[in-house]
Amino acid sequence: MAGAPPEAEPVAGDLTDPVAVRRALDGVDAVFLIWPLPDAAPAHGLIAELAAAAPPLVLVHLSAAAVDDASARQSDPVVQVHADMEALLHGAGLRPVMLRSDTLASNTREWKRQLAAGEVVSGPETARTAVVDERDVAEAAVAVLLAHHAHRDHGPYVLTGPEVLGRAEQIAQLGAALRRDLRFQALPAPLARARMLADGLPEPLAHALVAASERRPDSPRVTHHVRRLTGHPAGTFARWAADHAAEFGRREP
Ligand SMILES: NC(=O)c1ccc[n+]([C@@H]2O[C@H](COP(=O)([O-])OP(=O)(O)OC[C@H]3O[C@@H](n4cnc5c(N)ncnc54)[C@H](OP(=O)(O)O)[C@@H]3O)[C@@H](O)[C@H]2O)c1
Repeated sequence: MAGAPPEAEPVAGDLTDPVAVRRALDGVDAVFLIWPLPDAAPAHGLIAELAAAAPPLVLVHLSAAAVDDASARQSDPVVQVHADMEALLHGAGLRPVMLRSDTLASNTREWKRQLAAGEVVSGPETARTAVVDERDVAEAAVAVLLAHHAHRDHGPYVLTGPEVLGRAEQIAQLGAALRRDLRFQALPAPLARARMLADGLPEPLAHALVAASERRPDSPRVTHHVRRLTGHPAGTFARWAADHAAEFGRREP
């Protein structure tokens, strides 16, 4: 709860535990919902609790920019979970304001272990995406929660950064912030999967991430939805990298 106002009351609980969810919803009239699990099925209890809330909740849900409304099957298992969650929420009669985020800049933290060991980050080649600063996503969510009456269209708002970046470009920008000559080495899918398993990722997650890297199409566009919701332009990945350089071990001049 870093940065939360002192009057905020944290309530810990498991999203898959309806009793914990009911307890957390006591006295609450607006919810920002994330679903970080690799399957939407365990969300049924949570969604029943959200739907039973009286008076009805203002609900803002974080989904993924890659969700394609025109496709019954999504490009990869990770996006499928997001599409399934959206369908479950709508099916329960909840009318969330939908925020669909592109790739979060904070995913970069996955590279820390490799960056502690050297100047090469290896991994599967991924789609080019409009990497978005998670602080912008959070600010957009707060703006919607505080002014929900102004969002009768319920979105979806597609939250992106200001430029579409490939993995190598992102690593080069991080390198500039760290004053290090970082490089990306693309790994073939089987090797990338084996690395993730060796790093301790659960098998379904490693499988889903590699499938995502193989199948997800490039993000087709950047949007101005961060600006529309927050009143300022979306931050660049270069700024994110500069702001977080100390975490990664910046070289001093
Ligand atoms: N990363 C992206 O590029 C991206 C893009 C679009 C949307 N999203 C969505 O944005 C959200 C955050 O993404 P992220 O990459 O930051 O995820 P993350 O690093 O996996 O963080 C997930 C958070 O959810 C908590 N959590 C996991 N299982 C839980 C459960 N059963 N009950 C309560 N809390 C639980 C975790 O708590 P612990 O730390 O205690 O385990 C952690 O704080 C996710 O819903 C994701 O689907 C992410």
